[in-house]
Amino acid sequence: MTKVLMVCLGNICRSPLAEGILRSKVDSHLVDVDSAGTAGYHIGNSPDPRSVAVARKYGIDISTQICRKFVPEDFSRYDRIYAMDLNNYKDIIVQTNDSNHQKKVKLLLDTVSVGINEVPDPYYGGTNGFEKVFHLISQACDTIAQNLKQ
Ligand code: 4NP
Repeated sequence: MTKVLMVCLGNICRSPLAEGILRSKVDSHLVDVDSAGTAGYHIGNSPDPRSVAVARKYGIDISTQICRKFVPEDFSRYDRIYAMDLNNYKDIIVQTNDSNHQKKVKLLLDTVSVGINEVPDPYYGGTNGFEKVFHLISQACDTIAQNLKQ
């Protein structure tokens, strides 16, 4: 079993989408996918309704996910940790001095060539932002899913 953790700031917009999208592309017997936020603003909440809606549009149900905060124990619990943007990456990395743990952390979009390396934060924008974010994450998850099969 390979364990993958998707991380953003709030764990209500981008990382719940990343969790749902990657889960839809892998065998659940072989890959475990979870998500978390570096901030604790929304702990216990459901994903943002705009993320739920765009996921549903593409046949993925993320409505039952519950927001949680990233904790240092996640470094040993997960094999791969994908950060949505550079701030998330830095906020994760500073929580350990163990270089083996730090090596598990990557920027999600570093897995693909889409011209940018950060998933933009769609929280303060309109639904268009969520659509764009869905497709960026989906492209990265295609590559990750392929890579996990090898
Ligand atoms: P996320 O988006 O990091 O993709 O979940 C955000 C959600 C909430 C906030 C910021 C970004 N917030 O400031 O509450």
